[in-house]
Amino acid sequence: MDVATAIRTRRSVRRYKRKDIPDSILKEVLEAARLAPSAANRQAWELIVIKDPGTKTELVPLCRNQKFVEECSVLLVAVEDPAQKWSRVDTTIMLDHITLEAHQRGLGTCWVGAFDKDKVGELLGVPPERSVMACMTLGYPDEDPEARPRKPAEELFHYERYGARQ
Ligand SMILES: Cc1cc2nc3c(=O)[nH]c(=O)nc-3n(C[C@H](O)[C@H](O)[C@H](O)COP(=O)(O)O)c2cc1C
Repeated sequence: MDVATAIRTRRSVRRYKRKDIPDSILKEVLEAARLAPSAANRQAWELIVIKDPGTKTELVPLCRNQKFVEECSVLLVAVEDPAQKWSRVDTTIMLDHITLEAHQRGLGTCWVGAFDKDKVGELLGVPPERSVMACMTLGYPDEDPEARPRKPAEELFHYERYGARQ
């Protein structure tokens, strides 16, 4: 799958097959995260990779009872460093790399932004100087969601100056 196809066909997946991800494939997905660009190449992010069913179950109530958090094969918990100016951007790019790499390997992902970051951090032992930025589910899709709508280009793009449309 080329990048253009991956970008155009990726969807947020919230239903997953109960199927383990082979370690070799998980490794490639994590490698795509590691290769993401970052401000001054500081790579100001860390990622907690959770496979343990008990831990995922404990996380469901901390993620607004979103059940797919435990139904996915692997839950990724992205940790930022609030002391570093671009950490959140670095972390975001890294997660986006994961969505595309996963998709082209037949895996689905979904960002999880609705969660209690203090409680998730506490459960996972994240130190006080770091902060949980987002979670992401990963697993084999058990649904084929329709594309969600996007704003029209005219609302999004300006050419040369703000307000100049084409
Ligand atoms: C920062 C962020 C947080 C999100 N949080 C959640 C979430 O908590 N639960 C959920 O089901 N989807 C969540 N999503 C997924 C969005 O709802 C989804 O990306 C959007 O509706 C577009 O659909 P698509 O990803 O299929 O194109 C989140 C996405 C982003 C980027």
